[in-house]
Amino acid sequence: MTTWEIPLADIKFDRSEIDAVVEVLQSGWLTMGSATQQFEANFSEWNNVPHSIAVSSGTAALHLACIAGGLGPGDEVVLPALTFVATANAVRYTGATPVFADIQSLDDLTISPESIRSKITSNTKAIIVMHYAGYPCQMAEIQQIAYQHNLLVIEDAAHAIGAELNGKMMGTVGDIGCFSFFSNKNLVTGEGGMITTRDPEIAQRLRHLRSHGMSTLTWDRHKGHAFSYDVVDLGYNYRLDEIRAALGISQLNKLAPNNQIRRSLTRYYHHQLAEKCPQITVPFSDHPGTTAAHIMPVLLPENIHRQSVMEHLKANRIQTSIHYPPITGFSNYREEFKQRPILPRTDYVAEKELTLPLFPTMTTAQIDRVVDCLVEGLERR
Ligand SMILES: Cc1ncc(COP(=O)(O)O)c(C=O)c1O
Repeated sequence: MTTWEIPLADIKFDRSEIDAVVEVLQSGWLTMGSATQQFEANFSEWNNVPHSIAVSSGTAALHLACIAGGLGPGDEVVLPALTFVATANAVRYTGATPVFADIQSLDDLTISPESIRSKITSNTKAIIVMHYAGYPCQMAEIQQIAYQHNLLVIEDAAHAIGAELNGKMMGTVGDIGCFSFFSNKNLVTGEGGMITTRDPEIAQRLRHLRSHGMSTLTWDRHKGHAFSYDVVDLGYNYRLDEIRAALGISQLNKLAPNNQIRRSLTRYYHHQLAEKCPQITVPFSDHPGTTAAHIMPVLLPENIHRQSVMEHLKANRIQTSIHYPPITGFSNYREEFKQRPILPRTDYVAEKELTLPLFPTMTTAQIDRVVDCLVEGLERR
């Protein structure tokens, strides 16, 4: 097992998270109580959105968003292939069909509005965007397409908590926003997620769906607000527990300064890479809006063997990753969708992309080390 000197991502909890969790344990109430309510309220305030619904994962958030959006068999949903597989799986859980669109360019790895347009048919019901690496998608144009074709817009904001465009937080621009609090994200609770919406009816449906479609919860009965319940929808158990909600509250308090650090480390990376390895393409060189700087993607030059570079960095105990092998290439997707769509920019980037370490406690000396080892890795071929 490699012990990384510089891991891809890292978390540091302090007293505030430990105290918050201990307080929940001492309260004796472990699920869907005051911590979850507080986390949802704080999340809404932070993102300036009226409704936030905490769930057990980002995948659960996406699944419920697809159900609340009314997706089902026969419907098509346009989405990127350069994303985590959960974005497309959520569509398939409902029986709807994912239709993959290409990314913008080698500089902007988010979904291309022009490619979205080319994929729309009479069966298209929704668009799912994913703010890759925390950089906002071209939301004005995407919203315009959605308006013209009467489509729902779901934002996979798993990378983008705290990203902003034109004064709006990502995850609050479309109809439904989905966040993940998985351990490598900008806000972590281990497993966990959040759904945001401005629509009160969608919010109410999402609250039912996350808890078996029940009209009242154990918490309401504990509080003496109800004796029984009805089941008004076909729901799931996608609840978040109080321990994670308490972690989430503490983590949210640190998000703004942590994102600020991520952004300045990213700027430092861009500067060092431009100076020391100009042959590398660094996407998002001048992207509009404010990024959440979730990950640090670069594109390796032609005729460089990515795995050898990754091996060289690994030998120096530096962890790297790939975001992403395109969904269209996975065996399960190839079996299900016999014809692999042609997405030239996505396929090119997927072959060249390398993700470098980035986390708020990273030092500039560590970035220097990563860049120096990367330069060596490129020269060694
Ligand atoms: C882009 C994207 N979408 C969805 C997810 C799924 O989130 P989770 O792992 O919380 O289910 C992730 C997280 O890994 C992600 O990165």
